[in-house]
Amino acid sequence: MNLYGRDFLKLLDYSPEEIGYLLDLSAEYKAKKKAGILHDTLKGKNVALIFEKTSTRTRSSFEVACHDLGMGSTYLDPSGSQIGRKESIADTARVLSGIFDAIEYRGYGQEIVQTLADYADVPVINGLTNEFHPTQILADFLTIREHFGSLKGKKLVYMGDARYNMGNSLMVGAAKMGLHFVAAAPQEYFPDQALIAQCEAVAKESGATLDFISDPETAVKNADAIYTDIWVSMGEPVEVWEERVNALRPYQVNGRLMDAAGEQCVFLHCLPSYHDLNTAIGKEMGEKFGMDAFEVTNEVFESKQSLVFQEAANRMHTIKAVLSAVLTK
Ligand code: CP
Ligand code: NVA
Repeated sequence: MNLYGRDFLKLLDYSPEEIGYLLDLSAEYKAKKKAGILHDTLKGKNVALIFEKTSTRTRSSFEVACHDLGMGSTYLDPSGSQIGRKESIADTARVLSGIFDAIEYRGYGQEIVQTLADYADVPVINGLTNEFHPTQILADFLTIREHFGSLKGKKLVYMGDARYNMGNSLMVGAAKMGLHFVAAAPQEYFPDQALIAQCEAVAKESGATLDFISDPETAVKNADAIYTDIWVSMGEPVEVWEERVNALRPYQVNGRLMDAAGEQCVFLHCLPSYHDLNTAIGKEMGEKFGMDAFEVTNEVFESKQSLVFQEAANRMHTIKAVLSAVLTK
């Protein structure tokens, strides 16, 4: 398998075999890290880390992955560069291509990371856009594989706003890797029809199935994994909270829904999460809407079925696999 020089913009661009290879490579790196075996095979390489939105996991994972691989990294924060305000994406891409061996971009529309890739002559990696979050899916799937031993045929239910980056990317990943994907949401929160059609075509090849169900209890029956995400994403206006809380309250992952799924079911979340009121926004919105948690209850988040911290740690191993795959000849 040779992924040298490839961009990593969305999983639709990768074959099931290539995604499987990246998961295998992630597991190898994880084992090496645990055993204390050095793997600094990319000495002399450097990556630019552009973050137009904030991050804890993705930034930390890229920076630690770079250290472990022997690489350098430069973090360009949301306000500390010329990007967007004084320099176009196309110019930025060509400038950074002359300095770095790869570029990571986290920000807004998918068309921005696509433009970066079009103008850059080094690999561009998507660290989250409004539409897709492909490095997150690798960590999610590594976690499912570690827990169940395989991905094929596993029932993965995404509860909440399935039109945004996490719902979209999980649907694409599931279609590629032969899972049974269910989006559980009100009709108007289902993914875009054109993306569903693309995923249906992929699913025909892989044996995946895709379902869109508005009744939460029906949706979760026999699920192997229930996944959720915050109801209001980075960059969205504060005004949408009310509409989201009203629409998505029945889709909160709570003990009753986990019981309806069955005891085999694990809980996943990309994080960060409003599972309690111990954050500034969680507290403010909790008081406003009279809730003590939003997309998931604290009970489920803290339960034995919750794999969220294993999943978060897997971000680093999977990002390391992507960096190494696209930078190794
Ligand atoms: N899950 C995720 O991407 O987290 P960060 O926003 O902290 O990077
Ligand atoms: N949907 C969330 C995902 C965070 C990892 C957001 O875009 O903010």
